[in-house]
Amino acid sequence: MTLLRDHDLARAFDHAARTYDSLTALNPGYRTDLLRSARRLQLPHGGAGLRILDLGCGTGSSTRALLRAAPHARITAVDASAGMLRRALAKPWPGHVRFQHLTAEEVALREEEPYDAVFAAYPFRNVTDPDGLLAAVRTMLRPGGRLAVHEYSLSGSAAHRALWTAVCQGVIVPAGTLSGDRALYRHLWRSVLDFDTAPAFTARLTDAGFTGVRVAPVAGWQTGIVHTFLARNASQGAEGTESTAVGGAA
Ligand SMILES: C[S@@+](CC[C@H](N)C(=O)[O-])C[C@H]1O[C@@H](n2cnc3c(N)ncnc32)[C@H](O)[C@@H]1O
Repeated sequence: MTLLRDHDLARAFDHAARTYDSLTALNPGYRTDLLRSARRLQLPHGGAGLRILDLGCGTGSSTRALLRAAPHARITAVDASAGMLRRALAKPWPGHVRFQHLTAEEVALREEEPYDAVFAAYPFRNVTDPDGLLAAVRTMLRPGGRLAVHEYSLSGSAAHRALWTAVCQGVIVPAGTLSGDRALYRHLWRSVLDFDTAPAFTARLTDAGFTGVRVAPVAGWQTGIVHTFLARNASQGAEGTESTAVGGAA
């Protein structure tokens, strides 16, 4: 099947936004795992003084996880789907959280002060050019800034691949079909099978110039299916300058 991309994907999310929160609530661990990944950013002092970007925030579940992990940070949350954003905006948020209708690629083109950290929960599998998006994320992050990617990325074992297909065929696609979003939930199934395995995405991050790349599993049934990828934006120029940039001293 052809995967949904760009405009078609955004329209599919616009439609699915009505039922997105209730369907993800049926997934045990969906929100706990997002919080686990957000906490893995290990942002100091509750994020005080930091600016964080939530890339592909959807209805705000990942934004809520970031807010819990870093309650004092200034958070900008962006998404390509107006429908998903409307759901996010209907929820109560403190004044230091803002939402914008932008694609990840558009964020990179804006000449803004770079972010201290980027959290990306599920956009990478959905874009045509993940390397282009990784390069864009490097321009959005300050040197030494932190990246956490929370993504469906299979371990590489046949058992995890088979479990993913069984859960999609038995639960996720039928539930999505009932809500009128069969194409999106079939896209979810197939896009995970097509996307990088966890070792391949780790290598992709390193090839993109990120440093200190690590991968960690989530808990529960999604172990081996969803991973957190952690990395830092290398400094421009020589590798050896990174510690200076992180410390901010010269
Ligand atoms: C599976 S949802 C996850 C939403 C949210 N991060 C969460 O954890 O619940 C993926 C979101 O990524 C958004 N998305 C996909 N490609 C994007 C892009 N290129 N730029 C911005 N958002 C994108 C979609 O519109 C969708 O809302």
